[in-house]
Amino acid sequence: MTIVAVISTPEKNGNTEAVVNKIAESAKANGQDVKTFYLNPMTNRKGCQACFGCKAKGRCVQNDDLTPVLDAIREADGIILSTPVYFGEACGQYRLLEDRFFGFLDGSFNLNMPAGKKVAVVVSAGSAGADKLADKIEGVMTGFFKCQSVGKIAFATGNNKAFAAGNTDIMAQAEAIGKKF
Ligand SMILES: Cc1cc2nc3c(=O)[nH]c(=O)nc-3n(C[C@H](O)[C@H](O)[C@H](O)COP(=O)(O)O)c2cc1C
Repeated sequence: MTIVAVISTPEKNGNTEAVVNKIAESAKANGQDVKTFYLNPMTNRKGCQACFGCKAKGRCVQNDDLTPVLDAIREADGIILSTPVYFGEACGQYRLLEDRFFGFLDGSFNLNMPAGKKVAVVVSAGSAGADKLADKIEGVMTGFFKCQSVGKIAFATGNNKAFAAGNTDIMAQAEAIGKKF
């Protein structure tokens, strides 16, 4: 299987990155190929322009730094998505990508790529909101994009950048999810 991992946090060695990397490591140990994309360093990228070009072309018609991420997700068997909670929502880096998933839907809002991709969702908050946001992202992926959830990990960090990496329960959850790919 080919799995695409998306890390959207701007924090280097932060919480969501540590958990995504653990899921990826576990999936690799299970024989899967994992390609990881870091969204924050990408500078040439836009959100969805609502041009509806995708409805005619079957893919997003913008070409920028997010295009390879979208192409890889289209081809992948599995996806690992992650974001920190920023003001109760996903961070901007994640939201720009998520809106571009509009290109995976045809003019009748049916999926224009294979259904049934496995998806895992990782969300971290300083104090609150991680569960709600993880549920929302999972709902988008299973509802609109007909993915099959293999698990989500949502947690509060107290804004300690090293919290997840040092939490054996979270890391065990990540390892278990990685084996489901
Ligand atoms: C701009 C910004 C907004 C944030 N908003 C929230 C928030 O609404 N609720 C919350 O609990 N934490 C909030 N946080 C804290 C982060 O969600 C928290 O530190 C998280 O663990 C970061 O994950 P990361 O280490 O993967 O980057 C915010 C942090 C930043 C920088």
